[in-house]
Amino acid sequence: MKIKNLLIDKHKEIFGEAPELIVHSPGRVNIIGEHTDYNDGFVLPIAISLGIDLAISRIQDSEVISVYSLDKEKKIVSLYAYLMKSSGSDDWANYPIGVVKVLQKHGHKFGGVRISFTGSIPEGAGLSSSAALEIAVAYAVQQLYKLKIKDKDLIKYCQQAEQEVVGVRCGIMDQFTAKFGKAGNAMFLDCRSLDHRYIPLKLKSAEFIITNSNVHHKLVRSAYNQRVNECEEAVKVLNEVKPGKSLRDYNLDDYEKAREFFTPEEKKRAFHVITENNRVIEAEKSLKQGDLKKFGQLMNDSHDSLKLYFEVSCAELDWLAETAQKINGCYGSRMIGAGFGGCTLTLIEKKSIPEYISKLKAYQENFGLTAITYEVTPSDGVHKL
Ligand code: GLA
Repeated sequence: MKIKNLLIDKHKEIFGEAPELIVHSPGRVNIIGEHTDYNDGFVLPIAISLGIDLAISRIQDSEVISVYSLDKEKKIVSLYAYLMKSSGSDDWANYPIGVVKVLQKHGHKFGGVRISFTGSIPEGAGLSSSAALEIAVAYAVQQLYKLKIKDKDLIKYCQQAEQEVVGVRCGIMDQFTAKFGKAGNAMFLDCRSLDHRYIPLKLKSAEFIITNSNVHHKLVRSAYNQRVNECEEAVKVLNEVKPGKSLRDYNLDDYEKAREFFTPEEKKRAFHVITENNRVIEAEKSLKQGDLKKFGQLMNDSHDSLKLYFEVSCAELDWLAETAQKINGCYGSRMIGAGFGGCTLTLIEKKSIPEYISKLKAYQENFGLTAITYEVTPSDGVHKL
């Protein structure tokens, strides 16, 4: 396998020894259920074939952690000194640092490691390259040092690493998908109980495709954290109507009763999350029934809600989703991930894909950016290569 040989060669070149283990960890697309995970709600993600490939070897009698990024051609040694300087940013080295730090904080003892890795997920595209890297590091260290960590704890540690070291108050969807994704399937995840079930993807003559808008918003982190705060504030208001811990605990009747007490932002955020949770439940049913028309409509409704009520879309994503939605043979199209840039996901008949691709030329003309499309191949979670 090409990637495996490349990693073995590079690891030897950089560290002077062969890796003991090589793992692959996937990125994800979320087919519906956006900004619901940190509200204890429901999501429906798929692990994709793009991901992180990572090689690792132990350093005996040492606590040095050394990480080499093939893509950046950069090595960071002894991550702690580095962390002091760079925490609170999305510098690539913060993800492995964060994971090692959190594992140790939870009492797991292990020696030094040498890590080299490369990624096929376009960075900043909202396909979760960060969670893929976190899970790859955690899983590789766990396997190599035989650490006794339950799967769900491993996932929570990675989420914690992102929250504490990188400073994003993210939910659990991305890390969960990188661990538990299953080839050929989407996954329904209850982000409160962490119960999950697989839904075989039978799309007949249709296909999911990702379109990267190539818009990278610089302020995603602060805007994301602001949304998390607004949702928490909305819960405080809803508590006047009915006790509850998160937006997950409320329905549209509760929302109507609390309506006049919200700020304009809280009102819109709560409305999105409550209706989006309902859409995920409906989407699971329609996927199981093979009702792609209904499913696609839910995708479109999700996009509108993210645009109008959660206010995390942008002109480029709206253009891409709305252009796709107008094509005969397109069931639905929506922005995915945190938003403010990144990708759309489109469910479309295979025969209509060339028409869609040809329409993307106008994207270049309108925005001066190139939209790149990828096929979605539902793939397995993290595993050894
Ligand atoms: C990012 C976060 C996830 C989730 C999505 C929005 O990808 O990491 O936890 O909140 O945004 O659905």
